Amino acid sequence: MKGIIIYKSKYGSTRKYAGWLKEATGFEMVEADKAKIDEVAQCDTIIFGGGIYAGGIAGVNFLKKNIAKLKGKKIVAFCCGASPFDAGFFNALKERNFSGDLAGIPLYYCRGGYDLASMHFMDKTLCKLLGKSVAKKDPAEREVWETALVDSAGAAHDWTDRSFIDPILKECKTA
Ligand SMILES: Cc1cc2nc3c(=O)[nH]c(=O)nc-3n(C[C@H](O)[C@H](O)[C@H](O)COP(=O)(O)O)c2cc1C
Repeated sequence: MKGIIIYKSKYGSTRKYAGWLKEATGFEMVEADKAKIDEVAQCDTIIFGGGIYAGGIAGVNFLKKNIAKLKGKKIVAFCCGASPFDAGFFNALKERNFSGDLAGIPLYYCRGGYDLASMHFMDKTLCKLLGKSVAKKDPAEREVWETALVDSAGAAHDWTDRSFIDPILKECKTA
């Protein structure tokens, strides 16, 4: 079985998961922006992973644009965010990013990291603003990801854990 891991990562966590998946499967990994559909279409299994930024999953446009050429392939996706897993947050994320032709693709969550200090200027500004507005909310009214954002603002966090790839590997093995 030939497979490929396509990923889009700004700060390294999604790339780290892609690397672990490469180790476990032997599939090659390629950045979404550099992936060539003709090469991807030669694979039987496609693992896609993207970082979550403001509710969007990076790189998903590659799948949206090319899904017609990937009919009959085994496609498994994951996304990587700072929030702890929360079913409400995850289902809304899935609906927003994996609707229409992508609706049937299994999507998994891998927790990433959060470090304001290492962010690019625009991202840092956005996250600081978001943090300030969430901090004003009553803690009981905050969403799980909002609580994580406020709690994480002061220090560098890395929640990456190899065990998050287990269900992705299992899914790859199902027909
Ligand atoms: C501008 C910005 C927006 C973000 N929005 C979210 C979000 O909506 N939900 C979430 O769980 N994490 C969010 N994060 C955290 C990232 O998803 C997290 O840092 C993840 O590890 C990023 O993946 P990467 O390291 O592969 O870039 C955001 C980070 C940035 C910089």
